[in-house]
Amino acid sequence: MNIVLTCNLKKEDDSKPPDYFSEFDSQETINAITSALRSKGHSVEVIEAGQPNIVSHFKKSRIDIVFNIAEGKSGKFRESEIPAILDYLGIPYTGSSTFSLALALNKAMTKKILMADNIPTPYFQVFTKGNEPLDAQLKFPLIVKPNLEGSAKGINCSNVVYTAESLFNKVSELIRTYKQEVLVEEFIKGKELTVGILENGKTTVLPILEIDFSTCAKSGEFFYSWRMKEYQGDGSQGLTPTFYCPARLDEDTQNAVKEVALRTHRAVGCLDISRTDIRLSKDNVPYVLEINPLPGLNPKESNFPIMAYAAGMKYDDLIEAILMNAWQRSNEAQTYGAKRTLE
Ligand SMILES: Nc1ncnc2c1ncn2[C@@H]1O[C@H](COP(=O)(O)OP(=O)(O)OP(=O)(O)O)[C@@H](O)[C@H]1O
Ligand SMILES: [Mg+2]
Repeated sequence: MNIVLTCNLKKEDDSKPPDYFSEFDSQETINAITSALRSKGHSVEVIEAGQPNIVSHFKKSRIDIVFNIAEGKSGKFRESEIPAILDYLGIPYTGSSTFSLALALNKAMTKKILMADNIPTPYFQVFTKGNEPLDAQLKFPLIVKPNLEGSAKGINCSNVVYTAESLFNKVSELIRTYKQEVLVEEFIKGKELTVGILENGKTTVLPILEIDFSTCAKSGEFFYSWRMKEYQGDGSQGLTPTFYCPARLDEDTQNAVKEVALRTHRAVGCLDISRTDIRLSKDNVPYVLEINPLPGLNPKESNFPIMAYAAGMKYDDLIEAILMNAWQRSNEAQTYGAKRTLE
């Protein structure tokens, strides 16, 4: 097949804030996906989101399907930008739809959908101005996060707050820095888990990945903060979490966690692939923090491939599975007349 890989490539640029490129993909990841697709006999062209004349570029290229990992250009709906263009042009793409990508990027909106479906998620409040009265039902400690970011941007140990004063200070700081509303939610003490779902003809819930931060005391961080993600494995900073896949959980708990992840994947309408981040409370409730329809696919470091390897998959087969599931879906859409192409 003729495939276009849409992405955002990490760059070196000291004029930007240190977390500016955190959501973007490294050249290593782009190379790994490209070579996986080529090893399966496909031809691959790489297009970066944000490049000029992107629409005419799509129109000119002979494309069977787009392999989409792009975070988009900017704004509240950035992850939907490339899929929206492709929808308009009638070009099929891998992964979740324009709608689901916009929804999942908005943590608070996603949480409302989850609550309507009785999926446990920490109790929360959204601050848009920063001086709203604090909901008296929220129980400290609380965590303060930008509502529309990923890769733990803006999140470090000081985002866990124990008093109203430090809460309001952090809320104002994040509103100022990230120019968006801020999500405040109850901090769930317990195990950090993430669950990958892969649709490869059937729906597979991969072995649960547990990330243990007890080996990171030296770093001053005690959860999956921005520094922990950005410099993962850096022993000099003590940013060395321990990964367990499958997670150290009894079978009933594993099943309960997997079920919650699957229900989240379906509630948000994800397609082909997703990764749901969960905190398992001390009383064994799997609280969903968020769902990532565009999980990182770095073959060495990203959580999703680690889970696929634990299920016995090779990296190239994982990439091919995502592609073929999307290809199958686009063929079915054509068969049932749901796809119309604009002239
Ligand atoms: N309510 C919470 N209770 C406990 N820990 C939390 C909570 N919310 C966030 N965290 C911690 O902060 C990390 C990052 O939070 P979250 O997953 O919401 O952000 P993100 O930027 O979308 O992350 P990414 O896109 O990289 O997965 C979590 O993996 C977890 O370690
Ligand atoms: Mg997360």
